[in-house]
Amino acid sequence: MSKTITLTFTLNGRQVRLETRPGTRVLDLLRGEMGLTAAKEGCGSGECGACAILVDGTAKLSCLMLAAQLEGREIVTAEGLGTVEHPHPIQASLAENGAVQCGYCTPGMTIAAAELLAHTPCPDRGEVREAISGNLCRCTGYVKIVDAVMAVSRTTGEKNS
Ligand code: FES
Ligand code: FES
Repeated sequence: MSKTITLTFTLNGRQVRLETRPGTRVLDLLRGEMGLTAAKEGCGSGECGACAILVDGTAKLSCLMLAAQLEGREIVTAEGLGTVEHPHPIQASLAENGAVQCGYCTPGMTIAAAELLAHTPCPDRGEVREAISGNLCRCTGYVKIVDAVMAVSRTTGEKNS
C-alpha cells in the first residue's frame, strides 16, 4: 500500500482534513476526491491556465502542484469565488459581456481576473491583458474577456469615487 499523509487546509472557506498520497496532483484531488470540477485540465503541463486556483490569494496552476503543498494553505477555486445565485462580480461580468463561449477556460480566467482585481481594483487594459496572459482561450479572441474585467473595474471605481 502506498504511503498516505494527512493534510489540513482551507478550501473555499471551509476547513478540510483529508488523507491522500503526497504525490497526488492538486488538480486531481480537487476534481476527484473533492468533487470540485471548475478547475479544468487543458494541457496538464503548466501552459494553458485552465486549472488555475488561488493559493493564499495568488493564482497557481493546480496541475503543477502536489497535494503535500496544500498543507496549511488557503485554497479558493472558481466555485469558491461565487455561486449561480451570488456570483463574484467577474463571473457576472464575463456572462454579461458575452465572454464565455465554450467556457473551458472561464474558471481559470475568473481566478486570474479575481487575483488582479483584489490587488488592482482599477486596472488598465494592458494590466488586464498581462494578468490573463497565462490563460489560453481558443474561442473569444480575448477582447470580450478584457471588456468584462474592465466593466468590473469601472463599477469598483465608481463605488470608490
Ligand atoms: S492544465 Fe494546468 S496549466 Fe494547463
Ligand atoms: S471560452 Fe472556450 S476556451 Fe475560452
